[in-house]
Amino acid sequence: MNDSDRLVDAAREARERAIAPYSKFKVGAALLARDGRVFTGCNVENASYGLTVCAERVALLKALSEGVRDFTRLAVVADTKSPTPPCGPCRQLVWEYAGDIPVVMANLDAVTGEHQMRDLLPLPFDGRLLI
Ligand code: THU
Repeated sequence: MNDSDRLVDAAREARERAIAPYSKFKVGAALLARDGRVFTGCNVENASYGLTVCAERVALLKALSEGVRDFTRLAVVADTKSPTPPCGPCRQLVWEYAGDIPVVMANLDAVTGEHQMRDLLPLPFDGRLLI
């Protein structure tokens, strides 16, 4: 099994832990660090709806809070026929902290797509504009 398949498996497992009583839409994510560590996340919903945190951001914030800054790949899993890509705010954060990594999308049985972050977030606003 290659790195990408292992990452998708980790995201599928994380998806099982999703807390999505409102949308019933469970998402899992897994972020691969250059040192080989995998950080997983699931969506965590809240009765206010607006405080919901996506699976991708949970995975990213877990990694960042452990001091990890170098990432090579992200996997996102949802039970959908078409690919489930990261939402806009997640793209912004993944771009800022992980850069132009490949994002592999998969459902419970198969990989449904793979895209580079530069294609998911063309013409980004980022720190380069603030100097
Ligand atoms: N969600 C994610 O966790 N990641 C995505 O890429 C898309 C959306 C979550 C947020 C919310 O809990 C549910 O899916 C429906 O939008």
